[in-house]
Amino acid sequence: MVRRPALTPLVAALPPTVPFVGPEAQERDRGGRPFRARIGANESSFGPAPSVMAAMRAAAPDMWMYCDPDNFDLKTAIAGHLGVAYHNVVVGEGIDGLLNLVVRMMISPGQPVVTSLGAYPTFNFHVAGFGGRLVAVPYENDHENLDGLLAAVKRENAPLVYLSNPDNPMGTWWEASDIRRFADALPETTMLIIDEAYGELGPDSALFPIDVSRPNVIWMRTFSKAYGLAGIRCGYAVGEEGFIRDVEKVRNHYGVNRMALVAGEAALAD
Ligand SMILES: Cc1ncc(COP(=O)(O)O)c(C=O)c1O
Repeated sequence: MVRRPALTPLVAALPPTVPFVGPEAQERDRGGRPFRARIGANESSFGPAPSVMAAMRAAAPDMWMYCDPDNFDLKTAIAGHLGVAYHNVVVGEGIDGLLNLVVRMMISPGQPVVTSLGAYPTFNFHVAGFGGRLVAVPYENDHENLDGLLAAVKRENAPLVYLSNPDNPMGTWWEASDIRRFADALPETTMLIIDEAYGELGPDSALFPIDVSRPNVIWMRTFSKAYGLAGIRCGYAVGEEGFIRDVEKVRNHYGVNRMALVAGEAALAD
């Protein structure tokens, strides 16, 4: 038996599996036979707008440099786009990267985290990675069960609850008025993550208006889906200034590269 330095008990106990088996790995498993279409990861089949492609091409020669670690230009553009302040926005390596940070900020080993049974598995992966205890509420009529999620939050005294709207994998959504009722009913000790990866693809009436005066809600959006930039790894979270400043304390400051920052800005402008 080879001896090697010990992992933390938390990491040593993690399962070897990861939720994101990419199409590349699946193609290798089938002897290198390529799929005819990449539909498993909900990438846009169109890619980004031509203006975004042009901006990325123009940025390519500068890719050897570190990015602006403040992500100033993109954060300013997002803030302007959403009508919030600069300090209400944090940029990250896609929603996946931001989910990791928020779970890290909120969850100590053994603490309960509420989500839907069968909901976005990468969130669950991060919860497991920080030792959280997942409490999964079954869907009802192909929708996330808002009453069930609320009851689970209260029963478990959970510090964190996850809701994707519109939802993946169901493709269903709740209207903003329903989300508002849900958010209003949450204990103020529970942080609600609203994952709006598909926010631009559902009806506007499903977008729970961003209200940065709510200290226990964080909205997450991405350039991966509607903007056709999944590979660029760029998303953002919006919320109350104090919480966003706390996210700044733990994020990877050079994690979003120059091309991603430029592409995000160009995508918003398009
Ligand atoms: C619900 C949901 N959230 C987040 C993501 C990932 O977003 P990003 O590419 O910004 O990490 C996906 C991607 O499939 C998703 O389905």
